[in-house]
Amino acid sequence: MFGRFKAQETKKHAEIEVAPLSLRPDVVVKARPSISKSKSSDEAEAHAKEQKRSDRLMNIRMDLHKRLLETLNLSAIDKASEADLRREIGSIAREGIHEMGVVLNGMEQKQLLEDLIDEVTGLGPLEPLLRDETVNDILVNGPFQVFVERSGKLELTTIKFKDERHLLRIIDKIVSAVGRRIDESHPYVDARLADGSRFNAMVPPCAVDGALVSIRKFSKDKLSIEELINFGAFNEAMATYLQAAVSTRLNIVVSGGTGSGKTTTLNALSGFIGADERIVTIEDTAELQLQQVHVGRMESRPPNVEGKGAVTQRDLLRNALRMRPDRIIVGETRGDEVIDMLQAMNTGHDGSMTTIHANSARDSVSRMENMMSMSGIDMPLKAMRAQVASAVNLIVQVSRLPDGSRRMMSITEITGMEGEVISMQEIFKFERTGIDDDGKIHGYFAPSGLRSFYSERFRQWGYELPASLFSDTTVYTENEGTS
Ligand SMILES: Nc1ncnc2c1ncn2[C@@H]1O[C@H](COP(=O)(O)OP(=O)(O)O)[C@@H](O)[C@H]1O
Ligand SMILES: [Mg+2]
Repeated sequence: MFGRFKAQETKKHAEIEVAPLSLRPDVVVKARPSISKSKSSDEAEAHAKEQKRSDRLMNIRMDLHKRLLETLNLSAIDKASEADLRREIGSIAREGIHEMGVVLNGMEQKQLLEDLIDEVTGLGPLEPLLRDETVNDILVNGPFQVFVERSGKLELTTIKFKDERHLLRIIDKIVSAVGRRIDESHPYVDARLADGSRFNAMVPPCAVDGALVSIRKFSKDKLSIEELINFGAFNEAMATYLQAAVSTRLNIVVSGGTGSGKTTTLNALSGFIGADERIVTIEDTAELQLQQVHVGRMESRPPNVEGKGAVTQRDLLRNALRMRPDRIIVGETRGDEVIDMLQAMNTGHDGSMTTIHANSARDSVSRMENMMSMSGIDMPLKAMRAQVASAVNLIVQVSRLPDGSRRMMSITEITGMEGEVISMQEIFKFERTGIDDDGKIHGYFAPSGLRSFYSERFRQWGYELPASLFSDTTVYTENEGTS
């Protein structure tokens, strides 16, 4: 059982994943011979020229796109094969270029064709970013500012939309493809794209400086426990402990802020669930990728345009209880489904897991109490706490630190109630030691020295964890870690 998580040579995530920011070598137009001037004005001129050139190309692209829309049989686009479409778009574009009297070289034409295909069949300027596997998040602040997140770091790209209308057209395309609507009266939409990516858009007037778009890309390969250890998200001792916790069916809450790695952690933890168990997952947007065979996935549904037909996580959870699951995994508990979640954990579906948006283990308990009282349930605080204390065994706190790295900050056990208060004990934590000149945060993972409250349970289930796991700091020294 031990040694399953052999420490491998720590690779830096940044070295593996970061590619140079050369997403779209914008089409190059032949430079005209320029009259020589002083150096700095030369530079300024080059810059202005570059700007003019890319504006001009954008205009050509838009012109051609308009032509395409007029000429192409739009209803046939879905049915046409990729090759047919390319041929068709190619010939219309060439004709257009000819009529406009512009001269482009072979490479420029090729790039233009790609852009047009993206524009017609995909999401225009966003398409190369969606294809780029090193990009995790895409954030659009109005038409002229597109940021991406790579390995935990935000970068401004050179990608631009032609204008607000262009951006709105792309947003509309996404939104209508998922059967939703966005306009002044419904200025925002949260949806899942066909490839599983999460999409959120807000348009004016609520978005003040132009439409806002956030896309959290669906990562095809969720990070495994081994990879997370290599990235410094937690260490082997913690993984061994978590393996015992999941295998012996403790109920686990993963707590953290937005983008802190909650879903990633939940997904990795689910890897410890046995292949013979029936798992039901409930999510607002299906992100989890469980490796087991016996998985029933459910996704909630927002109301339709008339405001009808909503299916909430709570509805799904109630139904899930009738589906004979061994374990229930709720992607993120954010509302009144907390009541059914806790009840399920308390009544035979132990080994269930969820995530909660909170900043510490204590905070996540308060969040659960809050969600319970918001749901209108009439219960004294102490009873609510007792409910939480008996349902939840373990709280795993994750964070995205200011240097972009994601760490498991603590693993905390809930041990019961003392009077009105839920008693907890921290078993592992990330001990921060400092920050270097590059802003990189240093630290190491340390056991608190306390013996697990669940040691006896682990032992009974055949997980004999060595005492050193809970005391030995020296074995697990500073972990380099990256985002
Ligand atoms: N330890 C980690 N190291 C590197 N990348 C991570 C780590 N944990 C999460 N990520 C990445 O961070 C992004 C956000 O993670 P996610 O689990 O979706 O966050 P949350 O559910 O808290 O919003 C994803 O792209 C994920 O692949
Ligand atoms: Mg999440």
